Amino acid sequence: MRRLPLIVFGLLLCPSPARADDAGKVFEERIAPIFKSPNPSSCVECHLAAVDLKDYILPSPKDTFLALRDQGLIDLKTPEDSKILQLINRGTNNPKPSGLIPAKQRQAEYDAFAAWIKACAADPAYRDAPKPEKALPLGTKPVEVVRYARKDRMIESFESNVWAMRFRCMNCHTEGTPQNDKLVKESGERVGWFKKAGPAATMEYLLSGKLIDAANPEKSLLLTKPLGTVKHGGGIKFAPGDQGYKAMRAWIDEVAAIRSGTYARAEDLPTKESGPKRFGTDLWLKLDKTPDAWGDKLLQVDVFVWDDKAAVWEKEPVATSDRVVWGKGKLWQHNLTLLAAPGSERAKSWAAGKPTLPTGKYLVKVYLDVGERAKADWKAKLGPDEFVGSVEVQSRWPEGYNAMTTADGTRVRK
Ligand code: HEC
Ligand code: HEC
Repeated sequence: MRRLPLIVFGLLLCPSPARADDAGKVFEERIAPIFKSPNPSSCVECHLAAVDLKDYILPSPKDTFLALRDQGLIDLKTPEDSKILQLINRGTNNPKPSGLIPAKQRQAEYDAFAAWIKACAADPAYRDAPKPEKALPLGTKPVEVVRYARKDRMIESFESNVWAMRFRCMNCHTEGTPQNDKLVKESGERVGWFKKAGPAATMEYLLSGKLIDAANPEKSLLLTKPLGTVKHGGGIKFAPGDQGYKAMRAWIDEVAAIRSGTYARAEDLPTKESGPKRFGTDLWLKLDKTPDAWGDKLLQVDVFVWDDKAAVWEKEPVATSDRVVWGKGKLWQHNLTLLAAPGSERAKSWAAGKPTLPTGKYLVKVYLDVGERAKADWKAKLGPDEFVGSVEVQSRWPEGYNAMTTADGTRVRK
């Protein structure tokens, strides 16, 4: 009998031992495995890096609870409305799932957190725990970094850097074209890496495959194959530092930086590039009768449109391209990449439909990389020192290799 008050005392101190066990047990059985798993959580569906469900978990259940609660990620009144559940659930309604994460995995993550939060909310030992003086930090990154590494943001730079360059690869790698069908028969499905489904599907394929090497960007097959530094069924399609190389290399470097965790704080992020958006086309420009001095050098053209209203050439080029001059044939020809300021009417209409140039008068400015600067530094930009002259052309810009707009190389003057 003498022991009874002690038991009562004990019960008062520990009002619901069974429930406390519940929250702890649910944590050990369902949350801890997510924390320890070597596999990425469902967040990778939409975030290239910078977020993982593991970042929201600490080794101890109590610390995890306090950290999530005090950051407003847990709703104790209506546990099912908790922000952390909303983050996990976003993928459920994703209209375009990438197929990276099985629905089953996401559901398991959701159910685990839902069950655990419910158990915590029902348990005063968790629910009413005082705010710790020094909260343990979660592994989460600042929102700016999370935003930067979002795939829907990265797709913009992918479109401008990789997708826009697909015409430089002719149709060899574009799924659903007769050229690609033929090559797929010879070399297998892997040759069809510019996906019929569009830029997002192509980006997903490249991100999850072996064509980009995030540890050594310059060794990526996406670069070394067209450079011809490794054997390539399509031959040499890039000159070192040309526009195709520059664009694809810039995107791969960006992926590498994001993946390696270079950006931890908002101030680590690169300042936004304000250059024009690029749009690939099958519009060809040819310079024939090129002077001997241009032979086998990298030549760049910038194309300017005549502004009828103001009666001047536009200030910014509407198209550009570059390639090594074929010295023996006295010939330079390549397809054009169209350029438009982000958010401009041109950019909008080219993004919505097929990028084209209107019939009219154009000025072609020609630059020659005499000092082979692009070879030495892939970031080098040709400028006034490399300017060799300009020539006017009139064109309706028909499409295709067999319908090139031609300018006379001997008429290029300063
Ligand atoms: C279906 C795509 C998708 C999935 C899956 C997804 N997110 Fe997001 N996430 C987004 C989008 C889009 C935004 C930005 C728009 C917004 O804030 O509503 C975002 C924003 C965020 C933000 C806030 C940053 C800001 O912009 O304020 C965080 C934090 C976050 N997500 C974490 C996660 C975590 C953790 C997971 C995995 C459990 C996850 N997300 C899964 C698409 C997704
Ligand atoms: C004339 C057709 C042709 C052109 C043009 C061409 N390729 Fe290829 N490419 C091939 C063939 C054929 C293969 C398969 C044999 C091999 O791996 O080299 C291939 C393979 C590749 C691969 C390896 C694919 C894999 O999964 O193994 C990459 C990467 C690649 N090419 C990049 C490019 C890029 C980038 C361009 C344009 C700048 C380009 N290619 C232009 C024909 C072409």
